[in-house]
Amino acid sequence: MSPCSTRILTAQAQDISTAASLLRAGQLVAFPTETVYGLGADARQGEAVAGLYAAKGRPSFNPLIAHVHSVEAAKRYVVWSPMADRLAQAFWPGPLTLVLPLRPGHGISPLVTAGLTTLGVRMPAHPAASALLAALDGPVAAPSANPSGKISPTTAAHVAAGLDGRLAAIVDDGPCAVGVESTIIGLAGDHPILLRPGGLAQEDFESVLGQTLHQRDVHDPLTAPGQLLSHYAPAASVRLDVTEPTAQELFLGFGDMPCDLNLSPTADLQEAAANLFGYLHQLDARNKPIAVAPIPDHGLGAAINDRLRRAAAPR
Ligand code: TXA
Ligand code: MG
Repeated sequence: MSPCSTRILTAQAQDISTAASLLRAGQLVAFPTETVYGLGADARQGEAVAGLYAAKGRPSFNPLIAHVHSVEAAKRYVVWSPMADRLAQAFWPGPLTLVLPLRPGHGISPLVTAGLTTLGVRMPAHPAASALLAALDGPVAAPSANPSGKISPTTAAHVAAGLDGRLAAIVDDGPCAVGVESTIIGLAGDHPILLRPGGLAQEDFESVLGQTLHQRDVHDPLTAPGQLLSHYAPAASVRLDVTEPTAQELFLGFGDMPCDLNLSPTADLQEAAANLFGYLHQLDARNKPIAVAPIPDHGLGAAINDRLRRAAAPR
């Protein structure tokens, strides 16, 4: 990947139009979504997508999500279904990715799907993301805008710290509200599968679906492609479910307790999700082992604990 100078753009109409032109020209542009910042490439351009894998240092077997600005746009690329419709009606735009069979003539680069016959599609809720996707009027492949395996970015500064010089531009529109990546539901098989817990709580979509989701089989490459165990990793070690940190450790708290940084002093899981990656970045910069207080596993806690387990996994 040859170095380039990275422009910082705003979410104003003229800058959004510049960002869309850069994507059209096969360049990489990072942009905010309600979950985390994404590193975008036009999903129809194989070379652009190859550049995206190179910029992140991402293993090429790990498929990418195609971002779209409407349900109609999603239907250009995947075989839509009644269940997809129900979920999209309830939760799009929002932090939900649906994995569906690719449609004939879809035009998506096979690098996006890493050779699978399914595609993850998502309609983000962030106004800057919607504006960019509408201006391009095309699918944007966008993983989180961080070097592969590192902590996800929830501000433009996180993106610049990890990837500066490896992308054409960053659309800076402040911090991301949700703070953890989208929930991914697989709809390509006989029953819906929870492929990744995320910004939409499992309890919420199960009530819309009227059924419980199957859990993904970690040994099945079709339901868990590239879900590497070690991920979101700070440089220092991470220890979970800690009630008594050692003197050397930085303590990431939850609820009313003494600690170095508190995800949510009032034990609010939504607030904790929004703070998670930013606080991990801050603690990481201090280069000491990190201890994390127990987090309840319901609601957004499932996504928070999933990310923390990966951050703590052996590397
Ligand atoms: O919130 C999000 O989803 C963010 C923002 C930028 O939209 N994006 C994101 O992308 O988290 P990424 O690349 O970090 O994670 C995408 C995950 C992959 O790890 C892969 O496991 C799963 O989505 N995935 C993508 N396509 C899939 C497919 N066809 N089948 C199963 N899983 C798929
Ligand atoms: Mg990621």
